[in-house]
Amino acid sequence: MNEPVNIGIVGATGYAGGELLRLLSARSDVCVAAITSDRAAGKHVTDFYPALRGWLDLYFDSPSLDSLVECDLVFFATPHGVAMNMAPDLLEAGKRVVDLSADFRLRDADVWASWYGQAHKAPEWLPQAVYGLPELSRSGIDNARLVAAPGCFVTAVVLGLKPLLESGLIEQNGIIADAKTGASGAGRTSNPVFGFAEVAESMRAYGVAGHRHLPEIQQALDSLSASPVDLTFVPHLVPMVRGMQATLYARRIGSGDVRAALEAAYTNEAFIDVLPAGHQPTTAQVRATNNAMLGVSTLESGRVIVTTVIDNLLKGAAGQAVQCFNRMIGVSETTGLEAVASWP
Ligand SMILES: NC(=O)c1ccc[n+]([C@@H]2O[C@H](COP(=O)([O-])OP(=O)(O)OC[C@H]3O[C@@H](n4cnc5c(N)ncnc54)[C@H](OP(=O)(O)O)[C@@H]3O)[C@@H](O)[C@H]2O)c1
Repeated sequence: MNEPVNIGIVGATGYAGGELLRLLSARSDVCVAAITSDRAAGKHVTDFYPALRGWLDLYFDSPSLDSLVECDLVFFATPHGVAMNMAPDLLEAGKRVVDLSADFRLRDADVWASWYGQAHKAPEWLPQAVYGLPELSRSGIDNARLVAAPGCFVTAVVLGLKPLLESGLIEQNGIIADAKTGASGAGRTSNPVFGFAEVAESMRAYGVAGHRHLPEIQQALDSLSASPVDLTFVPHLVPMVRGMQATLYARRIGSGDVRAALEAAYTNEAFIDVLPAGHQPTTAQVRATNNAMLGVSTLESGRVIVTTVIDNLLKGAAGQAVQCFNRMIGVSETTGLEAVASWP
């Protein structure tokens, strides 16, 4: 058997970093060798995650390159602005990086700066970053030095629209993506807006005038289409812990079989399930899994409606990052990711 791959996780006390720990500490082909956090530096991993008792014996380090350079590959599960400062040194030291943040997702450093309000610190790495949404494109992931794992909204929207745009079954104009996320989508924040008292029994739209995921969705959809896609994207915060649904509205072109196009596109995809006619997916059906479920309806009005559900922390973040990581280390994409949703 090969030696385990040594990995590090920067941002291991966050929700996405916690899911990376859960997925990777259970694997015999992976050694979680370094985890970093400011607030937990010096603490044992089980002080923060008691559930990892018996799975991982490791202490948190402060976020610095010292422990990370011992790793073969480093995951960044940090807010935007961290990986672009730390990853270049690791990459130059020959390490590989999977970044779950937005730092390397956009191709254009000026577009990135305009949405994130600061100059990009490593624009020279943008052309080398491989976008890590395998069902969109696997090109370059296996040998990538730097993978930019997509955002959760982007994943939900792109999975639902890709086959229809590629087969010319929907108009590129007037597409609407109405998306809902649970509160863990905002991370482990102390902002009261995401606390129980304000999320429970309530729902609200945010980023209506322009959400940071919009340029990333646009970039991905435009890669599927001869001319730019005209998209309205409105995210909503809904009272659940995890889970995401995108309801996608588009105008149909011709009378081609929309469901057949989706089924054909995803028939060999381990994580994507197009439900039979008359069925709608629920976020509970994908909870704690790397799966995406799609419902599809064609209406008399000529509209096509696709509903996509994912777990924002798995197919929307850590699961997708591990899916890419599996390809990078040459094991099956599904390794450590096959799971049935917990219920109820
Ligand atoms: N949550 C989701 O559904 C989701 C989905 C897709 C992508 N993402 C992306 O994944 C990343 C992590 O999201 P999250 O929800 O897990 O966030 P989170 O719960 O807020 O966790 C952030 C982590 O980053 C660490 N951190 C914060 N500032 C840092 C700095 N300057 N240097 C080093 N580490 C720092 C924090 O550690 P300490 O404070 O302990 O030091 C914490 O471990 C974000 O970029 C997010 O956009 C999240």
